[in-house]
Amino acid sequence: MFKVIITGGAGYIGIHTIVDLLSKGFSVISIDNNCRSYKEILQEARHITGHTIKNYPINLCDAKAVEQVFQENADAKAVIHFAAYKNVDESVDQPLLYYKNNIFSLLNILKNIQKFQIPYFIYSSSCSVYGIVNRLPVTEDTPLSNPESPYANTKRMGEEITYDFSIANPCKAVLLRYFNPVGAHESGFIGEIPFYKSTNLFTVITQCAIGKKSKIIVFGNDYETSDGTCIRDYIHVMDIAEAHTKSLEYLIRQKKSEQKLCCETFNLGTGTGITVLEALKAFERNTNQKLNYEIGQRRAGDIPAIYANNDKAMRELNWIPKRTIDEMMLSAWKWEQKIPQFSWINH
Ligand code: WQD
Repeated sequence: MFKVIITGGAGYIGIHTIVDLLSKGFSVISIDNNCRSYKEILQEARHITGHTIKNYPINLCDAKAVEQVFQENADAKAVIHFAAYKNVDESVDQPLLYYKNNIFSLLNILKNIQKFQIPYFIYSSSCSVYGIVNRLPVTEDTPLSNPESPYANTKRMGEEITYDFSIANPCKAVLLRYFNPVGAHESGFIGEIPFYKSTNLFTVITQCAIGKKSKIIVFGNDYETSDGTCIRDYIHVMDIAEAHTKSLEYLIRQKKSEQKLCCETFNLGTGTGITVLEALKAFERNTNQKLNYEIGQRRAGDIPAIYANNDKAMRELNWIPKRTIDEMMLSAWKWEQKIPQFSWINH
């Protein structure tokens, strides 16, 4: 069996990727100390996969504990590294927390990939490494401007560390730059469980619709876009998950061809940008739920517009983002309505 070590396996993108990997015949183990996730989601995933997912609840900054997990799973052939803190506002308030957690954990992972000669590594990166861009859509060759937050900087540093590591070692790596992952697995068994007061648009929309929030503030409508609100490339989390499995298959193909490849970057977006107001209308259209929103001030750190050129991922990973904005909205709404049933979530 082709075993994959997944860090952050109980997280939003981690659990969806585990579901896809298992459906494609891979075996997985998770390393997740549930500091910002719920271990119970791994059991919920069993309803979809029929598999019990083994999780090691250790801190990835604990070098000895990480080495012990790798020792126990020395038959693993790949690592997908999701685990990281990702709250932009928190990273601005506590930059050292982000540099320590996000970088130390990556260094421990790479040290063990080297020690146990694991041939394939996939790194979870973000479109936030681009910062403010002047030309759209962004390709993987678009120059990176100043990161808008310490979080974004940890992602950019993580890419550079991974690149240098892959040059110096036989490990082949892929860097995946997610645009805005949203939605949930169509079954309703898994989805995003915000650990903080989430400020992400899709979560704010569904929480407003279900009554957890009284209204939505649209952060500015004076941007130079079609309706004055910011443009983003929202992509269904299952399309993101499938791209990870495709990336693993890509790396295995590379190994066979013995090509020089050591570290390739791919944009994971739909290639279509939509505005905040278009997103609100899409939710209302699909769910017949009227949203209470008003226009407010711009949010510090927001970039006016970003969306992906995803040609390289479609061409080289043989990947196509399939799900529409309507499916993103419906699955997000179905999941929000499911959350109250989970007694193990701190509501
Ligand atoms: C989207 C748009 C807001 C809430 C974040 C992270 C980024 C990446 C993707 C991990 C913006 C507007 C939002 C609200 C609003 N995550 N908005 N009212 O900021 O594009 O990116 O997710 O890699 O690192 O920063 O996503 O969902 O917060 O905002 O008007 O109450 O919705 O201004 O234009 P963002 P978001």
